[in-house]
Amino acid sequence: MFRRFSRRLFSQLVALDSFGMWATRIKSDQSEAKPAPDRRALTNFPKDFLWGTATSAYQIEGAVDEDGRGRSIWDTFSHTPGKIADHSNADHTSDHYHRYKEDVRLIKTLGVKAYRFSIAWPRVFPEGLGTPNPKGLDFYERLLDELLANGIEPFVTLYHWDLPQSLQDRLGGWQSSETSRAFANYAGYVAERLSDRVKQIFTVNECSRFVNLGYGAGVDAPGLRVSQAGLNQVRHHVALAHGLAVQAIRAQGRSDTKVGPAEDIAACLPVIDTPPNVRAAEIATRELNAGFLGVILEGKYTDGFLEHAGKDAPTFTADELKIISSPVDFVGLNIYAPQYYVAAADGALGFTVLPFPASFPHMNSDWLRIGPETMYWVPRLAAKIWNIDSIYISENGASASDELAADGQVYDTDRIMYVRNYLTQLQRATAEGIPVRGYFLWSLMDNFEWIDGFQKRFGLYHVDFNTQLRTPKLSSSFYRNVIERNAVV
Ligand code: BG6
Repeated sequence: MFRRFSRRLFSQLVALDSFGMWATRIKSDQSEAKPAPDRRALTNFPKDFLWGTATSAYQIEGAVDEDGRGRSIWDTFSHTPGKIADHSNADHTSDHYHRYKEDVRLIKTLGVKAYRFSIAWPRVFPEGLGTPNPKGLDFYERLLDELLANGIEPFVTLYHWDLPQSLQDRLGGWQSSETSRAFANYAGYVAERLSDRVKQIFTVNECSRFVNLGYGAGVDAPGLRVSQAGLNQVRHHVALAHGLAVQAIRAQGRSDTKVGPAEDIAACLPVIDTPPNVRAAEIATRELNAGFLGVILEGKYTDGFLEHAGKDAPTFTADELKIISSPVDFVGLNIYAPQYYVAAADGALGFTVLPFPASFPHMNSDWLRIGPETMYWVPRLAAKIWNIDSIYISENGASASDELAADGQVYDTDRIMYVRNYLTQLQRATAEGIPVRGYFLWSLMDNFEWIDGFQKRFGLYHVDFNTQLRTPKLSSSFYRNVIERNAVV
Protein backbone atom coordinates (compact mmCIF):
# COMPACT_ATOMS: atom_id res chain seq x y z
CA MET A 1 0.00 0.00 0.00
CA PHE A 2 2.80 2.40 0.82
CA ARG A 3 4.10 2.09 -2.70
CA ARG A 4 1.22 4.34 -3.78
CA PHE A 5 2.38 7.16 -1.46
CA SER A 6 4.95 9.62 -2.59
CA ARG A 7 8.13 9.57 -0.55
CA ARG A 8 7.32 13.04 0.67
CA LEU A 9 3.86 12.12 1.94
CA PHE A 10 5.26 8.99 3.55
CA SER A 11 7.80 11.00 5.53
CA GLN A 12 5.07 13.41 6.65
CA LEU A 13 3.00 10.53 7.97
CA VAL A 14 5.95 9.06 9.82
CA ALA A 15 6.66 12.44 11.34
CA LEU A 16 3.10 12.81 12.56
CA ASP A 17 3.21 9.35 14.02
CA SER A 18 6.43 9.94 15.89
CA PHE A 19 4.87 12.90 17.70
CA GLY A 20 1.85 10.85 18.70
CA MET A 21 -0.26 13.14 16.53
CA TRP A 22 -1.66 10.39 14.42
CA ALA A 23 -3.77 8.83 17.14
CA THR A 24 -4.72 12.20 18.59
CA ARG A 25 -5.93 13.32 15.28
CA ILE A 26 -8.17 10.34 14.76
CA LYS A 27 -9.57 10.70 18.22
CA SER A 28 -10.31 14.34 17.82
CA ASP A 29 -11.96 13.70 14.46
CA GLN A 30 -14.23 11.24 16.22
CA SER A 31 -15.08 13.47 19.08
CA GLU A 32 -15.94 16.35 16.79
CA ALA A 33 -17.74 14.13 14.35
CA LYS A 34 -19.67 16.37 12.01
CA PRO A 35 -23.07 15.25 10.86
CA ALA A 36 -22.90 13.41 7.57
CA PRO A 37 -23.40 15.87 4.71
CA ASP A 38 -27.04 16.15 3.77
CA ARG A 39 -27.10 14.07 0.64
CA ARG A 40 -30.39 15.59 -0.43
CA ALA A 41 -28.90 19.05 -0.40
CA LEU A 42 -26.19 17.79 -2.70
CA THR A 43 -28.49 16.20 -5.22
CA ASN A 44 -31.81 18.02 -5.02
CA PHE A 45 -33.27 20.33 -7.61
CA PRO A 46 -35.12 23.53 -6.66
CA LYS A 47 -38.57 22.91 -5.15
CA ASP A 48 -40.55 24.21 -8.12
CA PHE A 49 -38.32 22.65 -10.79
CA LEU A 50 -40.46 21.57 -13.74
CA TRP A 51 -39.90 18.05 -15.03
CA GLY A 52 -41.15 17.29 -18.50
CA THR A 53 -40.83 15.28 -21.65
CA ALA A 54 -41.06 16.28 -25.30
CA THR A 55 -42.07 15.22 -28.81
CA SER A 56 -42.77 16.84 -32.18
CA ALA A 57 -45.73 16.55 -34.53
CA TYR A 58 -44.20 15.08 -37.66
CA GLN A 59 -42.17 12.60 -35.64
CA ILE A 60 -45.09 11.03 -33.78
CA GLU A 61 -48.49 11.92 -35.22
CA GLY A 62 -48.86 9.96 -38.46
CA ALA A 63 -52.31 10.51 -40.03
CA VAL A 64 -50.71 12.74 -42.64
CA ASP A 65 -53.74 12.69 -44.93
CA GLU A 66 -56.43 13.01 -42.32
CA ASP A 67 -58.83 15.79 -41.39
CA GLY A 68 -57.66 18.21 -44.04
CA ARG A 69 -53.95 18.36 -43.15
CA GLY A 70 -51.86 19.91 -45.92
CA ARG A 71 -48.51 18.51 -47.01
CA SER A 72 -45.30 19.62 -45.38
CA ILE A 73 -41.75 19.76 -46.71
CA TRP A 74 -40.97 16.69 -44.61
CA ASP A 75 -43.68 14.66 -46.36
CA THR A 76 -42.09 15.55 -49.67
CA PHE A 77 -38.56 15.00 -48.46
CA SER A 78 -39.17 11.65 -46.76
CA HIS A 79 -40.96 10.38 -49.87
CA THR A 80 -38.01 11.33 -52.06
CA PRO A 81 -35.94 8.19 -52.72
CA GLY A 82 -32.55 8.11 -51.05
CA LYS A 83 -33.20 10.74 -48.38
CA ILE A 84 -34.09 8.58 -45.36
CA ALA A 85 -31.65 5.92 -44.17
CA ASP A 86 -34.21 3.11 -43.95
CA HIS A 87 -36.42 4.41 -46.81
CA SER A 88 -39.21 5.08 -44.34
CA ASN A 89 -41.45 8.09 -43.84
CA ALA A 90 -43.69 9.35 -41.05
CA ASP A 91 -47.03 8.59 -42.71
CA HIS A 92 -47.94 6.41 -39.72
CA THR A 93 -44.94 6.58 -37.36
CA SER A 94 -46.14 6.29 -33.71
CA ASP A 95 -49.78 6.92 -34.68
CA HIS A 96 -50.13 9.45 -31.90
CA TYR A 97 -52.93 11.23 -33.78
CA HIS A 98 -55.18 8.29 -32.96
CA ARG A 99 -53.56 7.16 -29.73
CA TYR A 100 -53.11 10.48 -28.00
CA LYS A 101 -55.23 9.45 -25.02
CA GLU A 102 -53.11 6.38 -24.39
CA ASP A 103 -50.00 8.53 -24.80
CA VAL A 104 -51.22 11.07 -22.26
CA ARG A 105 -51.57 8.14 -19.84
CA LEU A 106 -47.94 7.26 -20.53
CA ILE A 107 -46.93 10.85 -19.80
CA LYS A 108 -48.88 10.76 -16.58
CA THR A 109 -47.32 7.47 -15.54
CA LEU A 110 -43.89 9.05 -15.86
CA GLY A 111 -44.87 11.57 -13.24
CA VAL A 112 -43.81 14.55 -15.34
CA LYS A 113 -45.60 17.81 -14.73
CA ALA A 114 -45.10 19.24 -18.23
CA TYR A 115 -45.28 18.04 -21.81
CA ARG A 116 -43.76 19.84 -24.78
CA PHE A 117 -45.29 18.98 -28.14
CA SER A 118 -45.46 20.76 -31.46
CA ILE A 119 -48.39 21.85 -33.56
CA ALA A 120 -48.26 20.90 -37.22
CA TRP A 121 -48.62 24.17 -39.12
CA PRO A 122 -50.08 22.35 -42.17
CA ARG A 123 -52.86 20.88 -40.04
CA VAL A 124 -53.95 24.34 -38.99
CA PHE A 125 -53.24 26.18 -42.26
CA PRO A 126 -52.98 23.49 -44.95
CA GLU A 127 -51.58 26.05 -47.41
CA GLY A 128 -49.56 27.92 -44.80
CA LEU A 129 -51.83 30.95 -45.05
CA GLY A 130 -55.44 31.61 -45.89
CA THR A 131 -58.41 29.87 -44.36
CA PRO A 132 -57.61 27.81 -41.28
CA ASN A 133 -58.69 24.18 -41.18
CA PRO A 134 -60.94 23.81 -38.12
CA LYS A 135 -60.36 20.08 -37.85
CA GLY A 136 -56.62 20.66 -37.58
CA LEU A 137 -56.95 22.78 -34.50
CA ASP A 138 -59.61 20.44 -33.09
CA PHE A 139 -57.01 17.74 -32.66
CA TYR A 140 -54.81 19.99 -30.54
CA GLU A 141 -57.81 21.13 -28.52
CA ARG A 142 -58.61 17.50 -27.72
CA LEU A 143 -54.99 16.84 -26.80
CA LEU A 144 -54.83 19.93 -24.60
CA ASP A 145 -58.02 19.01 -22.81
CA GLU A 146 -56.70 15.53 -22.16
CA LEU A 147 -53.41 16.88 -20.81
CA LEU A 148 -55.08 19.39 -18.55
CA ALA A 149 -57.54 16.81 -17.27
CA ASN A 150 -54.51 14.77 -16.24
CA GLY A 151 -52.77 17.66 -14.55
CA ILE A 152 -50.03 18.03 -17.16
CA GLU A 153 -48.91 21.51 -18.17
CA PRO A 154 -48.69 21.90 -21.94
CA PHE A 155 -45.76 23.66 -23.62
CA VAL A 156 -46.40 24.14 -27.32
CA THR A 157 -43.81 24.49 -30.07
CA LEU A 158 -45.13 26.27 -33.14
CA TYR A 159 -42.47 25.22 -35.61
CA HIS A 160 -40.71 21.90 -35.42
CA TRP A 161 -39.67 21.86 -39.09
CA ASP A 162 -42.88 20.79 -40.87
CA LEU A 163 -43.23 23.84 -43.12
CA PRO A 164 -46.34 23.74 -45.32
CA GLN A 165 -45.15 22.55 -48.73
CA SER A 166 -47.20 25.25 -50.38
CA LEU A 167 -45.00 27.95 -48.81
CA GLN A 168 -41.92 26.17 -50.08
CA ASP A 169 -43.38 25.96 -53.58
CA ARG A 170 -44.73 29.48 -53.76
CA LEU A 171 -42.15 31.45 -51.77
CA GLY A 172 -39.04 29.29 -51.55
CA GLY A 173 -39.85 28.64 -47.88
CA TRP A 174 -37.59 30.48 -45.47
CA GLN A 175 -35.77 32.12 -48.36
CA SER A 176 -38.57 34.67 -48.31
CA SER A 177 -39.58 37.04 -45.53
CA GLU A 178 -43.16 36.39 -46.66
CA THR A 179 -42.80 33.03 -44.92
CA SER A 180 -41.85 34.90 -41.74
CA ARG A 181 -45.09 36.85 -42.01
CA ALA A 182 -47.12 33.73 -42.71
CA PHE A 183 -45.61 32.20 -39.56
CA ALA A 184 -46.65 35.20 -37.48
CA ASN A 185 -50.17 34.91 -38.85
CA TYR A 186 -50.28 31.23 -37.82
CA ALA A 187 -48.73 32.01 -34.40
CA GLY A 188 -51.27 34.74 -33.68
CA TYR A 189 -54.14 32.48 -34.66
CA VAL A 190 -52.95 29.63 -32.45
CA ALA A 191 -52.44 32.01 -29.52
CA GLU A 192 -55.90 33.46 -29.99
CA ARG A 193 -57.53 30.05 -30.05
CA LEU A 194 -55.45 28.14 -27.53
CA SER A 195 -53.92 30.53 -25.02
CA ASP A 196 -56.81 29.91 -22.66
CA ARG A 197 -55.19 26.50 -22.15
CA VAL A 198 -51.56 26.89 -23.25
CA LYS A 199 -49.55 29.33 -21.24
CA GLN A 200 -46.08 28.57 -22.60
CA ILE A 201 -45.19 28.76 -26.28
CA PHE A 202 -41.90 28.00 -28.00
CA THR A 203 -41.76 29.76 -31.35
CA VAL A 204 -39.13 27.94 -33.43
CA ASN A 205 -37.32 24.71 -32.65
CA GLU A 206 -33.62 24.56 -33.49
CA CYS A 207 -33.27 27.26 -36.10
CA SER A 208 -29.57 26.49 -36.50
CA ARG A 209 -30.16 22.84 -37.24
CA PHE A 210 -32.87 23.15 -39.87
CA VAL A 211 -31.23 26.12 -41.55
CA ASN A 212 -27.80 24.53 -41.76
CA LEU A 213 -28.96 21.04 -42.66
CA GLY A 214 -32.05 21.94 -44.69
CA TYR A 215 -30.70 24.88 -46.69
CA GLY A 216 -26.92 24.49 -46.36
CA ALA A 217 -25.92 20.82 -46.44
CA GLY A 218 -29.22 19.82 -48.07
CA VAL A 219 -29.55 16.68 -45.97
CA ASP A 220 -32.75 17.71 -44.15
CA ALA A 221 -35.94 19.05 -45.76
CA PRO A 222 -36.25 20.93 -48.02
CA GLY A 223 -32.91 19.54 -49.21
CA LEU A 224 -31.48 22.77 -50.67
CA ARG A 225 -27.89 23.92 -50.87
CA VAL A 226 -28.00 27.66 -51.07
CA SER A 227 -24.99 30.00 -51.05
CA GLN A 228 -23.49 31.30 -47.80
CA ALA A 229 -25.24 34.62 -48.36
CA GLY A 230 -28.49 32.77 -48.96
CA LEU A 231 -28.00 30.78 -45.79
CA ASN A 232 -27.45 33.91 -43.70
CA GLN A 233 -30.58 35.40 -45.22
CA VAL A 234 -32.64 32.29 -44.48
CA ARG A 235 -31.50 32.39 -40.85
CA HIS A 236 -32.38 36.08 -40.68
CA HIS A 237 -35.87 35.30 -41.95
CA VAL A 238 -36.32 32.66 -39.28
CA ALA A 239 -35.19 35.13 -36.61
CA LEU A 240 -37.65 37.63 -38.05
CA ALA A 241 -40.39 34.99 -37.99
CA HIS A 242 -39.63 34.40 -34.32
CA GLY A 243 -39.85 38.13 -33.52
CA LEU A 244 -43.04 38.65 -35.52
CA ALA A 245 -44.56 35.61 -33.82
CA VAL A 246 -43.68 36.96 -30.36
CA GLN A 247 -45.51 40.17 -31.26
CA ALA A 248 -48.50 38.34 -32.74
CA ILE A 249 -48.79 36.12 -29.66
CA ARG A 250 -48.68 39.14 -27.36
CA ALA A 251 -51.30 40.89 -29.48
CA GLN A 252 -53.70 37.99 -29.93
CA GLY A 253 -53.07 35.68 -26.97
CA ARG A 254 -54.06 36.03 -23.32
CA SER A 255 -51.87 38.39 -21.39
CA ASP A 256 -50.38 35.62 -19.25
CA THR A 257 -48.99 33.75 -22.28
CA LYS A 258 -45.23 33.23 -22.05
CA VAL A 259 -43.09 32.87 -25.15
CA GLY A 260 -39.51 32.15 -26.16
CA PRO A 261 -37.38 30.24 -28.67
CA ALA A 262 -36.04 26.66 -28.33
CA GLU A 263 -32.58 26.66 -29.82
CA ASP A 264 -29.84 24.11 -30.35
CA ILE A 265 -27.35 26.60 -29.04
CA ALA A 266 -23.79 26.03 -30.27
CA ALA A 267 -22.43 24.39 -27.12
CA CYS A 268 -19.01 25.80 -26.20
CA LEU A 269 -17.21 24.49 -23.10
CA PRO A 270 -13.96 25.52 -21.47
CA VAL A 271 -11.70 22.53 -22.01
CA ILE A 272 -10.25 23.00 -18.53
CA ASP A 273 -11.97 25.20 -15.95
CA THR A 274 -9.55 28.12 -15.72
CA PRO A 275 -10.61 31.79 -15.81
CA PRO A 276 -9.00 32.45 -19.23
CA ASN A 277 -10.65 29.36 -20.74
CA VAL A 278 -14.03 30.22 -19.24
CA ARG A 279 -13.73 33.69 -20.73
CA ALA A 280 -12.76 32.14 -24.07
CA ALA A 281 -15.82 29.84 -23.95
CA GLU A 282 -17.98 32.86 -23.22
CA ILE A 283 -16.64 34.71 -26.26
CA ALA A 284 -17.07 31.61 -28.40
CA THR A 285 -20.66 31.09 -27.20
CA ARG A 286 -21.57 34.64 -28.08
CA GLU A 287 -19.91 34.65 -31.48
CA LEU A 288 -20.99 31.19 -32.59
CA ASN A 289 -24.60 31.94 -31.69
CA ALA A 290 -24.69 35.47 -33.07
CA GLY A 291 -26.83 34.54 -36.08
CA PHE A 292 -29.91 33.53 -34.09
CA LEU A 293 -29.90 33.57 -30.27
CA GLY A 294 -27.53 36.53 -30.25
CA VAL A 295 -29.58 38.74 -32.53
CA ILE A 296 -32.76 37.80 -30.66
CA LEU A 297 -31.29 38.61 -27.26
CA GLU A 298 -29.07 41.55 -28.20
CA GLY A 299 -31.03 43.17 -31.03
CA LYS A 300 -27.97 43.24 -33.26
CA TYR A 301 -25.55 40.99 -35.05
CA THR A 302 -22.13 41.07 -33.38
CA ASP A 303 -19.30 42.88 -35.15
CA GLY A 304 -17.47 39.56 -35.31
CA PHE A 305 -20.41 37.89 -37.06
CA LEU A 306 -20.78 40.68 -39.62
CA GLU A 307 -17.04 40.87 -40.27
CA HIS A 308 -16.79 37.14 -40.70
CA ALA A 309 -19.82 37.09 -43.04
CA GLY A 310 -18.40 39.99 -45.07
CA LYS A 311 -20.23 40.30 -48.38
CA ASP A 312 -22.41 37.33 -47.41
CA ALA A 313 -23.93 39.12 -44.43
CA PRO A 314 -27.73 39.14 -44.34
CA THR A 315 -29.52 42.26 -45.46
CA PHE A 316 -31.74 43.71 -42.76
CA THR A 317 -33.28 46.91 -41.50
CA ALA A 318 -33.09 48.51 -38.08
CA ASP A 319 -36.82 47.92 -37.78
CA GLU A 320 -36.35 44.19 -38.34
CA LEU A 321 -33.73 44.04 -35.60
CA LYS A 322 -36.23 45.65 -33.25
CA ILE A 323 -38.87 43.08 -34.14
CA ILE A 324 -36.41 40.19 -33.82
CA SER A 325 -35.39 41.32 -30.35
CA SER A 326 -38.93 41.67 -29.00
CA PRO A 327 -38.59 40.70 -25.31
CA VAL A 328 -39.06 37.01 -24.56
CA ASP A 329 -40.15 35.40 -21.29
CA PHE A 330 -37.71 32.49 -21.36
CA VAL A 331 -35.07 30.86 -23.50
CA GLY A 332 -35.28 27.18 -24.36
CA LEU A 333 -31.95 25.44 -24.86
CA ASN A 334 -31.73 22.03 -26.51
CA ILE A 335 -28.59 20.47 -25.09
CA TYR A 336 -27.30 17.10 -26.22
CA ALA A 337 -23.57 17.11 -26.83
CA PRO A 338 -20.46 19.21 -26.38
CA GLN A 339 -19.77 20.84 -29.73
CA TYR A 340 -16.71 22.97 -29.09
CA TYR A 341 -14.07 22.46 -26.43
CA VAL A 342 -12.57 25.89 -26.22
CA ALA A 343 -9.29 27.21 -24.87
CA ALA A 344 -8.00 30.75 -24.51
CA ALA A 345 -5.74 31.87 -27.32
CA ASP A 346 -3.91 34.94 -28.54
CA GLY A 347 -5.27 36.55 -31.64
CA ALA A 348 -8.31 38.52 -32.62
CA LEU A 349 -10.85 35.86 -31.66
CA GLY A 350 -9.51 35.26 -28.17
CA PHE A 351 -10.31 31.56 -28.31
CA THR A 352 -9.40 28.40 -30.12
CA VAL A 353 -11.42 25.26 -30.67
CA LEU A 354 -9.79 21.92 -29.99
CA PRO A 355 -10.24 18.95 -32.31
CA PHE A 356 -12.24 15.93 -31.12
CA PRO A 357 -10.17 12.76 -30.95
CA ALA A 358 -11.62 9.82 -32.87
CA SER A 359 -11.98 7.94 -29.59
CA PHE A 360 -14.34 10.52 -28.03
CA PRO A 361 -17.31 8.48 -26.70
CA HIS A 362 -20.77 8.88 -28.14
CA MET A 363 -24.23 7.37 -27.80
CA ASN A 364 -25.99 5.43 -30.53
CA SER A 365 -25.77 8.39 -32.93
CA ASP A 366 -22.34 9.49 -34.13
CA TRP A 367 -23.09 13.13 -33.43
CA LEU A 368 -24.25 12.48 -29.87
CA ARG A 369 -20.98 12.78 -27.99
CA ILE A 370 -21.17 12.25 -24.26
CA GLY A 371 -20.16 15.38 -22.36
CA PRO A 372 -22.33 15.77 -19.26
CA GLU A 373 -20.64 19.04 -18.29
CA THR A 374 -22.29 20.60 -21.35
CA MET A 375 -25.40 20.73 -19.19
CA TYR A 376 -23.60 22.89 -16.67
CA TRP A 377 -21.56 25.21 -18.86
CA VAL A 378 -24.06 26.03 -21.56
CA PRO A 379 -26.81 27.44 -19.31
CA ARG A 380 -24.19 29.11 -17.13
CA LEU A 381 -22.53 30.91 -20.03
CA ALA A 382 -25.80 31.75 -21.80
CA ALA A 383 -27.34 33.21 -18.63
CA LYS A 384 -24.26 35.36 -18.09
CA ILE A 385 -23.77 36.58 -21.65
CA TRP A 386 -27.39 37.53 -22.29
CA ASN A 387 -28.54 38.12 -18.74
CA ILE A 388 -31.28 35.51 -19.07
CA ASP A 389 -33.39 34.94 -15.99
CA SER A 390 -35.45 31.98 -17.13
CA ILE A 391 -34.06 29.00 -19.03
CA TYR A 392 -35.72 25.72 -19.92
CA ILE A 393 -33.74 22.76 -21.12
CA SER A 394 -36.21 22.26 -23.92
CA GLU A 395 -34.56 19.00 -25.03
CA ASN A 396 -31.97 16.55 -23.78
CA GLY A 397 -31.83 12.82 -24.26
CA ALA A 398 -30.04 10.02 -26.01
CA SER A 399 -30.30 7.38 -28.67
CA ALA A 400 -29.64 3.80 -27.61
CA SER A 401 -29.95 0.43 -29.32
CA ASP A 402 -32.95 -0.44 -27.14
CA GLU A 403 -33.36 -4.09 -27.96
CA LEU A 404 -36.20 -5.95 -26.33
CA ALA A 405 -34.73 -8.57 -23.98
CA ALA A 406 -36.07 -12.12 -23.84
CA ASP A 407 -38.39 -11.08 -21.02
CA GLY A 408 -39.85 -8.29 -23.17
CA GLN A 409 -38.13 -5.49 -21.24
CA VAL A 410 -35.75 -2.83 -22.54
CA TYR A 411 -32.71 -2.48 -20.26
CA ASP A 412 -31.38 0.82 -21.58
CA THR A 413 -28.73 1.28 -18.93
CA ASP A 414 -26.71 3.37 -21.39
CA ARG A 415 -29.50 5.96 -21.64
CA ILE A 416 -29.79 5.97 -17.85
CA MET A 417 -26.04 6.54 -17.59
CA TYR A 418 -26.25 9.43 -20.04
CA VAL A 419 -29.25 11.14 -18.46
CA ARG A 420 -27.99 10.63 -14.90
CA ASN A 421 -24.67 12.26 -15.70
CA TYR A 422 -26.25 15.19 -17.54
CA LEU A 423 -28.73 15.71 -14.70
CA THR A 424 -25.92 15.69 -12.17
CA GLN A 425 -24.42 18.62 -14.02
CA LEU A 426 -27.80 20.32 -14.30
CA GLN A 427 -28.24 19.98 -10.55
CA ARG A 428 -24.81 21.57 -10.13
CA ALA A 429 -26.02 24.47 -12.26
CA THR A 430 -29.26 24.99 -10.34
CA ALA A 431 -27.42 24.68 -7.01
CA GLU A 432 -25.23 27.57 -8.14
CA GLY A 433 -28.31 29.64 -8.88
CA ILE A 434 -28.20 29.39 -12.67
CA PRO A 435 -31.83 30.10 -13.58
CA VAL A 436 -32.86 26.81 -15.19
CA ARG A 437 -36.59 26.37 -14.46
CA GLY A 438 -37.29 23.02 -16.05
CA TYR A 439 -36.11 20.12 -18.14
CA PHE A 440 -37.76 18.23 -21.01
CA LEU A 441 -36.42 14.77 -21.69
CA TRP A 442 -36.35 13.90 -25.39
CA SER A 443 -38.32 11.89 -26.05
CA LEU A 444 -41.53 10.48 -24.66
CA MET A 445 -41.46 7.59 -27.09
CA ASP A 446 -39.62 6.20 -30.08
CA ASN A 447 -40.54 7.99 -33.26
CA PHE A 448 -39.49 8.93 -36.77
CA GLU A 449 -35.97 10.28 -36.28
CA TRP A 450 -35.77 12.41 -39.41
CA ILE A 451 -33.14 11.17 -41.84
CA ASP A 452 -32.42 8.17 -39.61
CA GLY A 453 -36.00 7.00 -40.06
CA PHE A 454 -36.76 4.35 -37.45
CA GLN A 455 -33.16 3.27 -37.05
CA LYS A 456 -32.54 5.46 -34.03
CA ARG A 457 -34.56 5.37 -30.84
CA PHE A 458 -34.70 8.17 -28.26
CA GLY A 459 -37.87 7.23 -26.38
CA LEU A 460 -38.56 6.54 -22.73
CA TYR A 461 -41.17 4.18 -24.15
CA HIS A 462 -40.25 1.63 -26.77
CA VAL A 463 -42.61 1.59 -29.75
CA ASP A 464 -43.13 -1.48 -31.91
CA PHE A 465 -43.92 0.24 -35.20
CA ASN A 466 -45.79 -2.81 -36.52
CA THR A 467 -48.17 -3.25 -33.62
CA GLN A 468 -47.88 0.22 -32.03
CA LEU A 469 -47.30 -1.46 -28.70
CA ARG A 470 -45.65 0.92 -26.23
CA THR A 471 -43.30 -0.68 -23.67
CA PRO A 472 -41.73 1.36 -20.87
CA LYS A 473 -37.95 1.18 -20.98
CA LEU A 474 -35.95 0.95 -17.76
CA SER A 475 -35.05 4.63 -18.24
CA SER A 476 -38.70 5.55 -17.70
CA SER A 477 -38.50 4.07 -14.17
CA PHE A 478 -35.26 5.91 -13.63
CA TYR A 479 -36.81 9.20 -14.73
CA ARG A 480 -39.89 8.62 -12.59
CA ASN A 481 -37.60 8.17 -9.58
CA VAL A 482 -35.73 11.36 -10.37
CA ILE A 483 -38.99 13.26 -10.55
CA GLU A 484 -40.45 11.70 -7.39
CA ARG A 485 -37.37 12.57 -5.37
CA ASN A 486 -36.61 15.79 -7.26
CA ALA A 487 -33.03 14.65 -7.20
CA VAL A 488 -30.47 12.79 -9.25
CA VAL A 489 -30.81 9.12 -8.35
C1 BG6 B 1 -33.23 17.41 -31.88
C2 BG6 B 1 -34.58 17.61 -32.51
O1 BG6 B 1 -32.30 18.05 -32.67
O2 BG6 B 1 -32.72 16.14 -31.77
C3 BG6 B 1 -35.47 16.41 -32.42
O3 BG6 B 1 -35.23 18.75 -32.04
C4 BG6 B 1 -34.69 15.17 -32.79
O4 BG6 B 1 -36.56 16.58 -33.27
C5 BG6 B 1 -33.51 14.98 -31.83
O5 BG6 B 1 -35.48 14.03 -32.79
C6 BG6 B 1 -32.62 13.84 -32.26
O6 BG6 B 1 -32.05 14.15 -33.48
P1 BG6 B 1 -31.79 13.12 -34.65
O7 BG6 B 1 -31.22 13.91 -35.75
O8 BG6 B 1 -30.83 12.12 -34.13
O9 BG6 B 1 -33.08 12.51 -35.01
